[in-house]
Amino acid sequence: PTQVILDCDPGHDDALALLLAAGDPRLRLLGVTTVAGNQTLDKTTRNALRILALAGVTGVPVAAGCDRPLTGELTVAEDIHGESGLDGPDLDGPVGELSGRHAVDLMHRLLVDSAEPVTLIATGPLTNVATLLTRHPEVLPQVRRIVFMGGSTDRGNTTPYGEFNIVTDPEAADVVLRSGLPITMIGLNVTHQALATTSVIAEFRAMNTRPGTICAELMTFFAATYLRVFGFEHPPVHDPIAVAAVLDPSIVHTVPAPVTVELTGTHTRGATVVDLHARTGLPPNADVAVALDVPAFWNLLLTTVRQLPIP
Ligand code: BDR
Ligand code: CA
Repeated sequence: PTQVILDCDPGHDDALALLLAAGDPRLRLLGVTTVAGNQTLDKTTRNALRILALAGVTGVPVAAGCDRPLTGELTVAEDIHGESGLDGPDLDGPVGELSGRHAVDLMHRLLVDSAEPVTLIATGPLTNVATLLTRHPEVLPQVRRIVFMGGSTDRGNTTPYGEFNIVTDPEAADVVLRSGLPITMIGLNVTHQALATTSVIAEFRAMNTRPGTICAELMTFFAATYLRVFGFEHPPVHDPIAVAAVLDPSIVHTVPAPVTVELTGTHTRGATVVDLHARTGLPPNADVAVALDVPAFWNLLLTTVRQLPIP
């Protein structure tokens, strides 16, 4: 299996990313690290523990990381994910223990100890990942690639041109994109195609399992906020696409391109500037997702959740 670490800020769609990463046997989930983003760090961490318990995962270390962006204040996405970060279902119940390590230390340790290079999947602001790369440059060869959900080849969702994960910590995204590591960017331009339609939600519910029911309830809450805030008829599930891209590269079509992060910009701080037509003369630094096989993506996600061991 492909060795992965998932760095996340759950979050409704992060929860689905976690279930996919934990449930597909083609991945070996070495660790889960959490970052402040959709909600404060204490909440995203508690949510990660709750979702892993829901998936019946034990023995995967979970560590809390950075509680704020590299620069400036944290602005959470309470309007989208609610007060808990995972509003909607009742997720009460016993959860696993949190590692005593900081997320960056856990990632470092897992990389050093791994017999083969590890894929980092990031579905929140890139604060932990950037801190790892700056603090431990010697472990870069142990990173096989970084696949992150964030940015866009077109418009944003948090500012007109900025996507939430990048806008939350533009400096961190800049560090990652300038690292020289193999990077895959899964932006809004593809994630907005993966909509949890009424029939998708019905499929979750029809599973008649706790994970299936919880997914249906998460998506029902998510649908209400996306309708209210963005006027979307159905909510896009961004984060599991980053996991799907690792599991099955045929699901996401990418093209190599130069990607820079706007760090100043009067109205565009945190925008990803993607040069799809080689206008800048800059060398490509990322494989940028440009197309998504929507039926294959849903088939993968629904099949994995259906097969989770918890009844
Ligand atoms: C991203 O922002 C968060 O709200 C989601 O979890 C996703 O990672 C989409 O812009
Ligand atoms: Ca997220």
